[in-house]
Amino acid sequence: AGSPLAGVAPLSGPGAAAPPGIACQIAYGSQTGTAEYLAEQVADRARTQGFVPQVCALEDLDLGALSAVRRLLVITSTYGEGEMPDNAEMFWQALAGPGAPRLDGLYFGVLALGDSVYDGFCQAGKNIDVRLGELGGTRVLDRVDCDVDYEGPSADWIGRAIIALAGIDENLADVPADPAADSPESSRMTSTIDTTAPATTALAAAPTPADKPQRAPRWGRKNPYPATIVANSVLSGPESDKEVRHLVISLGDSGIDYEPGDGISVTPVNDPALVDLVLERLGATGDEPITDRKSTRTLRESLSRHVEIATPSKYLVDYIASRTQDPELVHLTSTGDKEALDAWLWGKDVLDLLNVDPALSVTPEELIAELRPLQHRVYSISSSPRAHTGTVHITMATVRYRSGERTRGGVCSTYLADRRAEGELVDVFITPNKSFRLPADDAKIIMVGPGTGIAPFRAFLHERQARGATGENWLFFGDQHQHCDHIYSDEIDQFVADGVLTRLDLAFSRDQAHKVYVQDRMRERGAELYAWLADGAHVYICGDATRMARDVDAALVGIIAEHGGFDEDGARDHLNQLKKDKRYLRDVY
Ligand code: 2AM
Repeated sequence: AGSPLAGVAPLSGPGAAAPPGIACQIAYGSQTGTAEYLAEQVADRARTQGFVPQVCALEDLDLGALSAVRRLLVITSTYGEGEMPDNAEMFWQALAGPGAPRLDGLYFGVLALGDSVYDGFCQAGKNIDVRLGELGGTRVLDRVDCDVDYEGPSADWIGRAIIALAGIDENLADVPADPAADSPESSRMTSTIDTTAPATTALAAAPTPADKPQRAPRWGRKNPYPATIVANSVLSGPESDKEVRHLVISLGDSGIDYEPGDGISVTPVNDPALVDLVLERLGATGDEPITDRKSTRTLRESLSRHVEIATPSKYLVDYIASRTQDPELVHLTSTGDKEALDAWLWGKDVLDLLNVDPALSVTPEELIAELRPLQHRVYSISSSPRAHTGTVHITMATVRYRSGERTRGGVCSTYLADRRAEGELVDVFITPNKSFRLPADDAKIIMVGPGTGIAPFRAFLHERQARGATGENWLFFGDQHQHCDHIYSDEIDQFVADGVLTRLDLAFSRDQAHKVYVQDRMRERGAELYAWLADGAHVYICGDATRMARDVDAALVGIIAEHGGFDEDGARDHLNQLKKDKRYLRDVY
């Protein structure tokens, strides 16, 4: 009673709506915003089923008050190689610690997001799922671990989670309604078990600002710092297949600090030419007001700054498929052949999807509702805060390709390359990479970074030089052709001349009849490389995840086997141990 949803008829049985006004806490751990976006979707869905959902970041969930929460859905991504996202870290430390409360009255479910390229796939979600169970919570549905293609599995989980939460009402008789009736030993004594109460949230008991540790003003995803571009130039030669750029971004008076190894996130703006084409296809001017979640803005603003239009979401694909007679798309979406669908989708943007059926009429509201929120893009920083005071450098390859009639490009790389000249502003914030750090100053390091993978290693070398670090440095770098792709060659030569770079091995894949890659150079120097490892060296890899990092990993196993006298399994164990000791670190994408 008294709830805004009190008029919703309670149903019973699986798949039924919840009795009106039942509170449901939805908490997310999000690094890029995907988990937060999904949490909002869960809330929308929960609302339609008669729940009163509360959404917050895990860091805003007060653990002390969690024992009074009955229904909790956690959606969390995993950051780096198995770590918590920044806004889940404090919550996790409290949850994992000895002071965590019992959660016997809690019904929960966890949706984990991750990227199987990384070790520790979905680890943050796994950890929270296990720990909530250990503390006495009841898992209402199995955790789902989503890979980068999260849309299908997450939509399925959301549907099942809401049904599961609605279903637990039948079991409430198991739980004493009067805490005093519970046995004195039971940790349920601390729980408030009142299913008819209006929505309560653990947020209600969040510490007052005075209790909270004072933090420096934080620039983040929701309030990025408008930084000035100081330089934006092309590093690669005109004959190169690639356009590799060097950007210098001023940190001005932002107070932003970073460490070598960190990333910088850039909030892009979509290509205005593509926005115009989408507007034309919708038959809209762009001035139409659009209400998307809590904000109202013009359609042009929405398409430019708030949704992804270069890569269609699965929701849009399904939506168009459901409304068109196009036999190919209907067939592809109905067979469930993901590979075939992905192949068909390659190079297609939102405009291509709308044009699958030129007769199809879609309203601006319908389109916006099917699109993913625009994501920021993270670049590995290539500068050192000690050597390049007050600035952040980016080393970036501009993504350009042709598909159909139009030239396409990477959303953020073409934004920076074509539409952010010197003197213009760009919205940024630092994305720390705590698992990719320099070791003690006297430790040896081996860096493997072909192409733009060199970025963090340029930062490392400048940093070590600025600090006067005594540890020896070894760089493996490569690309297609020496004459046009040997970026930063003057600086690298200077590092060699200064004795900062002890060893340098280059692999230019297309300068001879057969391909030569960084891992070939590593094998050639296998004995020495193994000697460095035996001497405590840290190994870093940065760059392409699917081919390069995988092949370099295999080469390391081979080198350890050959020069360390291990069999294949022993060598793999040895490399795994280096990983556990945080001496084998990767920043791959
Ligand atoms: P290629 O394009 O000539 O095959 C940076 O992109 C460099 O990485 C290029 O020289 C590229 O060579 C090379 N490269 C491509 N595949 C690789 C792999 N599996 N391992 C290591 N380097 C690779």
